[in-house]
Amino acid sequence: MKNITILISGSGTNLQRIIDCIDSGEIRNARIIQVIADRECYGLQRAEKHRIPTRLIKRGKNFSEELDKAIPQNTDLIVLAGFLSILKPEFCEKWKGKIINIHPALLPKFGGKGMWGHHVHQAVIESGEKESGATVHFVTSGIDEGEIILQRKFEIDENDTPETLAEKVHQVEYDIFPKAIDLVLNK
Ligand code: GAR
Repeated sequence: MKNITILISGSGTNLQRIIDCIDSGEIRNARIIQVIADRECYGLQRAEKHRIPTRLIKRGKNFSEELDKAIPQNTDLIVLAGFLSILKPEFCEKWKGKIINIHPALLPKFGGKGMWGHHVHQAVIESGEKESGATVHFVTSGIDEGEIILQRKFEIDENDTPETLAEKVHQVEYDIFPKAIDLVLNK
């Protein structure tokens, strides 16, 4: 059995999907042993409903160190599921190959500092892109630069807004994120 620790900052719909896919067996041989948030957010309640241990570690001076201490030693994979804090290079190095992230665009485009959530979808629409999608990748010290595990794209409709794009990207995420987690854990 592989142990997953999930880091979140928001509503946690991807977290919910991961919980459901573990229950249904789409993600094999895994359990979530800890959910950690960097702010109060609905995702924490989702975890609590499923009796998954939660921690809240607010961002501050020694955030990466505190976070590292809060991550159970027996974690096999750290999953960033809508986690909006930047992690220190030392942290990324320590967990290299064992930490993955979901990004709401087609990396290497529209990644890097400040590129999160609605900012990404706004930038994609403004730049007149013909397609968008989602990317699951390993986390390295370069923001959104690690090796890509899975990526899926779709065509942008001319009527799409940042909001409709966000919804479409989420649907893609719900599909590729569990697959990527299963792939990394059970390769
Ligand atoms: C997801 O779309 C995820 O790709 C994005 O935050 C959303 C979280 O939604 N992550 C980033 O922007 C990271 N740079 P959720 O809380 O409903 O899972």
